[in-house]
Amino acid sequence: MTADFLQFPDGFLWGAATASYQIEGAWDEDGKGESIWDRFCHTPGYVLGGDTGDVACDHYHRWREDIQLMAQLGLKGYRLSISWPRVLPEGKGQVNPAGLDAYSRLVDGLLAQSIQPFVTLYHWDLPQALQDEGGWANRDSAHWFQEYADVVSQWLGDRVSGWITHNEPWVIAFLGYYMGVHAPGIQDLPAAIQVSHHLLLSHGLAVPVLRSNSAQGTQVGITLNLSPVHAATESEADQAAARRQDGYLNRWFLGPLFKGDYPEDMLELLERHSAAAPTVESGDMEAIGVPIDFLGVNYYSRGVVRADPEGGPLQATGVRPEGSEYTEMDWEIYPAGLYELLTHLHNEYDGPAMYITENGAAFADELVDDAVEDPRRVAYLRDHFAAAWQAIEEGVDLRGYFVWSLMDNFEWALGYSKRFGIVYVDYEMQRRIPKRSALWYKDVIARNGIEE
Ligand code: FCB
Repeated sequence: MTADFLQFPDGFLWGAATASYQIEGAWDEDGKGESIWDRFCHTPGYVLGGDTGDVACDHYHRWREDIQLMAQLGLKGYRLSISWPRVLPEGKGQVNPAGLDAYSRLVDGLLAQSIQPFVTLYHWDLPQALQDEGGWANRDSAHWFQEYADVVSQWLGDRVSGWITHNEPWVIAFLGYYMGVHAPGIQDLPAAIQVSHHLLLSHGLAVPVLRSNSAQGTQVGITLNLSPVHAATESEADQAAARRQDGYLNRWFLGPLFKGDYPEDMLELLERHSAAAPTVESGDMEAIGVPIDFLGVNYYSRGVVRADPEGGPLQATGVRPEGSEYTEMDWEIYPAGLYELLTHLHNEYDGPAMYITENGAAFADELVDDAVEDPRRVAYLRDHFAAAWQAIEEGVDLRGYFVWSLMDNFEWALGYSKRFGIVYVDYEMQRRIPKRSALWYKDVIARNGIEE
């Protein structure tokens, strides 16, 4: 190899990620129960343009074709998520065999192409029946999740390479229960805090179950959305604001998982501002701190904040740095943040094994003559891969990289208005067209590295 080729370690797991509600469609087929995202999308006013995941990419029916596509790109791993109400329509109790069969076929199809399945149990589509009992705000949710993890892992545990208990508990708790912009659309900070605790507890209770139902060597982890937070200026007030934002976004979850407790400064802040410290029962923190095999990192951008007395309980407001480039989500493109994040996690949390479980960008792609040229996405991915490479060079135990996303899909409250795929989806005809970035990625995977 030439000196200007960034070679990744042997066996590095290059993959792509999706989530059930965002791609499957078939929202009420084959015995599937209603999820909170079905309910949310079917309620006017929540989702841009009234879009729903009713059909999405129709992956539930087109999974064979989609696996072919993954094979053509040479993917080594695929991160999918399971729709809880497809497997347990009421969330607990009665199992729906057709739902389990569908995922079993999918996993077998991946293995037949030597693609390692990484399976997320909860990527936001809670059974509505459980929401009717309070959802994650009900402490029983930790046990409902444990039961669900047991059912799924008894069925698939012999074939799955990795389990991810939750995808982005911060988003589930704070966008779902505090900001109310995601299902179930609630705006209640103390509830959101309690939800975050129940999510973590459910993770802790599920880990031993997943282990005991899985083949040896199956890895178990959790995925967090993490971002370095920078202060807008050097001022003490802004630095303190950045620290608070970091506590809220990152340390609130990393602390319990890796250090045995919620961060002291955040507990004080919550107590002071909203009497919203979580109710924690004895034994909870031990359960949450159960050792895991990897930390899944979703990284898209950094945060930049300034102190602001009007800025809610955190007294901080986001700042949009000038002179930066932004994606269609209006997220700053900041690859250096990935390097900073990975090295920081490595140093601060005892060098955990990590996977990038999501990284990618939305751009306004256009299909022209049956092709999509997306040079900005290629550049985005290239620069983030280079940042990851640099972190690995410095000893970070990064084992794989799942690009978000395999294909364009339903982007939550923004519906189909944002395209994150490396494969373009023509929703009307349900055609898949690999974008330039997919073809480029194929080459990266084949060579296990990138040009500098
Ligand atoms: C993450 C979600 C994923 C996708 C990307 C853009 O927060 O996990 O489903 O929507 O953002």
